[in-house]
Amino acid sequence: MSKMINGFSKLTKSEKIDWITKTHFKNPEAARKELESYWSTDPKLQNRHDEFIENTVTNFYLPLGIAPNFLINGSIYSLPMVIEESSVVAAAGNAAKFWSTRGGFKATVLDTIKVGQIHFLFTGDSIALKQFFEKRKEELLQTTKNLTKNMEQRGGGIISCELIDKGKEMPDYYQLHLKFKTGDAMGANFINSCLEQLAKSFEEFARLDLLTQADSHLEIVMSILSNYVPECLVRATVSCPVEDLAIEKNGISGISFAKKMVAAVAIAQCEPHRAVTHNKGIMNGVDAIVLATGNDFRAVEAGVHAYAAQTGKYTSLSTATIEEGQFKMELTLPLAVGTVGGLTKLHPMVKWCMELLGNPSAEKLMEIMAVGGLAQNFAAVRSLVTTGIQKGHMKMHLLNILNQFEATKNQKEAAVEYFKNEVVTVQAVGAFLEKNTH
Ligand code: MEV
Repeated sequence: MSKMINGFSKLTKSEKIDWITKTHFKNPEAARKELESYWSTDPKLQNRHDEFIENTVTNFYLPLGIAPNFLINGSIYSLPMVIEESSVVAAAGNAAKFWSTRGGFKATVLDTIKVGQIHFLFTGDSIALKQFFEKRKEELLQTTKNLTKNMEQRGGGIISCELIDKGKEMPDYYQLHLKFKTGDAMGANFINSCLEQLAKSFEEFARLDLLTQADSHLEIVMSILSNYVPECLVRATVSCPVEDLAIEKNGISGISFAKKMVAAVAIAQCEPHRAVTHNKGIMNGVDAIVLATGNDFRAVEAGVHAYAAQTGKYTSLSTATIEEGQFKMELTLPLAVGTVGGLTKLHPMVKWCMELLGNPSAEKLMEIMAVGGLAQNFAAVRSLVTTGIQKGHMKMHLLNILNQFEATKNQKEAAVEYFKNEVVTVQAVGAFLEKNTH
């Protein structure tokens, strides 16, 4: 059971640790030492991490792995992946190698439009509201000029602003629905600042022109970007002649493998339970790169799954076809991500990952992420329709189990050898270690 405290945020970092360890841990000194062991040895760097969020007590590590050999639009990339799940990086690397000799991955950004909305309630003459909006629209947009000036120089800014009557969905509900382009920035701060400025001006102008009748009333409820970005889209594709898919070591012909892949993806298209897991596999690849590049994985996740349900039925984000002897697998994703601003210059590992990727533009990064998702999807479905997922999974998982048992280096080497031909379970690994004590 946790304890209540007032003014926790006002305590120094050391006082916070003191309170939290003394009130929650059997051995407060050991608990403090554990936290401190994850601090950076460079106090300046640690301070920077401390300041990313509030009430920081330590860092929480996740591994950064590299999946090399990605041939994307004719250039080779090594992808940085931050993820806790074993086998994801290995699967990405395998898929990359597989496609590198079959034409590689092709990726294209379809559009980069982002959305922001001002939600408001209005009672009164809706025709007068529409007339007022059309008359004042340009002036209204002018009030954001100090915010949009720089963005316009970088090819972005406000693309459109529409008044929408949402009265059918909720009484008196209207919105200003805006489209934006934000260059290489994810753009959340830019969009939200523009919206808040617009909302203020909209209210002011309305007070002067529109709300002169006693029975008319306008109330801004909120102004916020939308993480649903179905017009900020990227598409990644792989394709090759069906016969190039043959898996010789398993004796599987190209055509039977291709047909099984197509069937597996078709199942994910028509069956929501399967679609969710299928898309989860895609997001294994996408999120790992989103995290490595300091982008907002919650925003990406929310937007991607809403897109997968855009027809009213949740479905697969990828497709697979065989046409005229060519196997093709394609993934289309809404991805609002950035390569400037946010953590990009502040987090040393994000900076490192960006350099690894050749300091890409936001559009290039969208392409790389979609490719990471497609590679992961291909690898996962390939395992599922051939060997099954557990074989590869458990092999990688073996190391985690060995670490749980605190196995020595010798024990690990012997176990990896032994379990090449045995089923990996926690019990089996435990029994093996009991027999092989060092
Ligand atoms: C596991 O993290 C991801 C998979 O379940 C994806 C899939 O089933 O396609 C293997």
